[in-house]
Amino acid sequence: MNFKDKTVVITGASRGIGRSIAESFAKEGANVALCSTNDAKAKAIAKEIATQYGVQAFGKGVDIRAFDSVSEFIKDIVDEFGKIDILVNNAGITKDNLLLRLDETDWNDVIETNLNSIFNTTKSVIKFMLKKKYGRIINISSVVGLMGNPGQSNYAASKAGMVAFSKSIAREYGKKNITINAVAPGFIQTDMIETLPKEYLDNIIDNIPMVRLGMPEDVSRAVMFLASDDASYITGQVLSIDGGLYM
Ligand SMILES: NC(=O)c1ccc[n+]([C@@H]2O[C@H](COP(=O)([O-])OP(=O)(O)OC[C@H]3O[C@@H](n4cnc5c(N)ncnc54)[C@H](OP(=O)(O)O)[C@@H]3O)[C@@H](O)[C@H]2O)c1
Repeated sequence: MNFKDKTVVITGASRGIGRSIAESFAKEGANVALCSTNDAKAKAIAKEIATQYGVQAFGKGVDIRAFDSVSEFIKDIVDEFGKIDILVNNAGITKDNLLLRLDETDWNDVIETNLNSIFNTTKSVIKFMLKKKYGRIINISSVVGLMGNPGQSNYAASKAGMVAFSKSIAREYGKKNITINAVAPGFIQTDMIETLPKEYLDNIIDNIPMVRLGMPEDVSRAVMFLASDDASYITGQVLSIDGGLYM
């Protein structure tokens, strides 16, 4: 896959899946813009990527929950690179609890970070994509958004919301050559699942037909496919990357 001269925006690329996506695109020649909550960290990672892969990279600390912070980030990217071809909405958090113990703050934090954020980014980016009559948007949802999970009602609702949002935007902008798809990873080896008790994780692995966790690269390869010309007639879809956990 060749992404030379494409500009890719990845939210939450300081580690885990986002970092893998940013590096995979850079490896294939794309210029990369990334954010995390920490400005110094985002800038340092951008510098590392630019040096390692010989592309242009821009990093910024952004609170993905805040519309103004996001729209300023997007404007900075357009000032720097002149356009945005691909947007990957990856930033996300979990704050797990059974409903009776789940407080309003943890409900709101997860919905704002995982779901409101994609309204903020997509609304800010789409006008630039419309001008170029080209765009690829990929949302990182989750298997949990498709099948539900006890203790994750906030997270599952946010991830299911990402799917419905993707399908609606796909219907709005298909005629403008903008595609929007979601991927639904299963359990992927990153910081996000580090806090899960070993027994719980072992039980999950036993229920995965491929009997292993996924790696961030399993997700980034699928994201790159959806962003590539090979996927130019695919929109409004959800691609599971979960070793068969949900089928
Ligand atoms: N790991 C899994 O098993 C799994 C499965 C299905 C779906 N997913 C989804 O995949 C995505 C990435 O997950 P991951 O496992 O790679 O997570 P991770 O390692 O915890 O990384 C999360 C990223 O999101 C950023 N972020 C969080 N809140 C933010 C905010 N308010 N503003 C800007 N950036 C923010 C973090 O930045 P900081 O470093 O600054 O905190 C970090 O870069 C998430 O949407 C997650 O829901 C993960």
